[in-house]
Amino acid sequence: MIQIEHLEKTYTSKQGRVTALQEVSLHIPQSAIYGIIGLSGAGKSTLVRCLNLLEQPTSGRIVIGGQDLTRLSGKDLRQARQKIGMIFQHFYLLQSRTVAENIAFPLELAGVSKEEIVARVKELLSLVGLKEKANVYPSQLSGGQKQRVGIARALATKPQVLLCDEATSALDPQTTLSILNLLRDINQRLGLTIVMITHEMKVIKEICTDVAVIHEARIVEQGPIESVFIRPQSEIAKQFVSSVFPNEMPPELLRELAAHSNSELIRIHFVGSRASDPVLTDLVRHCKVQANILYGSIDHLRATLFGSLTLELLGTPEQLAEAHTYLQNREVQVEVIERGF
Ligand SMILES: Nc1ncnc2c1ncn2[C@@H]1O[C@H](COP(=O)(O)OP(=O)(O)OP(=O)(O)O)[C@@H](O)[C@H]1O
Ligand SMILES: [Mg+2]
Repeated sequence: MIQIEHLEKTYTSKQGRVTALQEVSLHIPQSAIYGIIGLSGAGKSTLVRCLNLLEQPTSGRIVIGGQDLTRLSGKDLRQARQKIGMIFQHFYLLQSRTVAENIAFPLELAGVSKEEIVARVKELLSLVGLKEKANVYPSQLSGGQKQRVGIARALATKPQVLLCDEATSALDPQTTLSILNLLRDINQRLGLTIVMITHEMKVIKEICTDVAVIHEARIVEQGPIESVFIRPQSEIAKQFVSSVFPNEMPPELLRELAAHSNSELIRIHFVGSRASDPVLTDLVRHCKVQANILYGSIDHLRATLFGSLTLELLGTPEQLAEAHTYLQNREVQVEVIERGF
């Protein structure tokens, strides 16, 4: 759906040059909710602004739905942009217009007829749950309601892509969840591709299907969220994951908890239905090892169960080897923390 190829962006100002994006290549599949996470200054907003050519990339290509946006200009670019909606952290609503008039604005710009606008605005108000607020002004709305107007306005011209730059960062946790649920609902109902820019891993964890980690202008990691959450490769991705799943225990503490010398410390990860399988009981029965649970947690990734258990395994070397094979066959991810300490 969206193909980002070798994207570079360098800002040149009196203060000097800043490379905000370097060698960024990403493929965002149709109907994905694709998260892009990074610390402040990593280049997230620059990336999202390059995606709809609000910012001209220094080099590289942006192909959306088969069309290379970087080759377009004038009317063609304006038309292509109508297929891309965008929402922002600070909403940017027009204060002198009512909710309905804010949502109508992009339709007016696109030259849509009055009757069509009235019908479309009604539809959008109902989609975002704001039918009662059609005639009030933005100053009379809560933050969550303002973002709902932002979403309705972004969807007015029926875009194929919705770009969200820190769309929930100004909202409290409860309101954040309700906006994320609305976005997930829209993604499922309309098959819209959503790009979520955020610095919060909890946003990624709630709704994203895929995630890319951007650090100091480069993409350092990307993939389906399950694999990035289970096996983060880069230091920065590990930090993001532990911000929502703080289940790392220092090895010294685990060693204290472990009752026996010559045992093995492992962490096993479960995803989806496997999280509720009786893996541990089966492991002990099949492989004749002893398993002491040292630490465990269970949570969710989107609507999927996601858990980990830290275990002390006791047995002969053969039994332990068999236990590993057994877990592998059950498609449980195993991480060895320490062997025979
Ligand atoms: N218009 C500009 N002129 C010069 N430098 C810029 C401009 N916009 C951004 N930068 C620089 O580019 C880098 C990336 O900025 P960007 O706004 O993309 O970061 P970000 O990841 O969105 O950060 P935040 O989480 O704080 O919003 C920063 O070093 C920033 O100072
Ligand atoms: Mg930003």
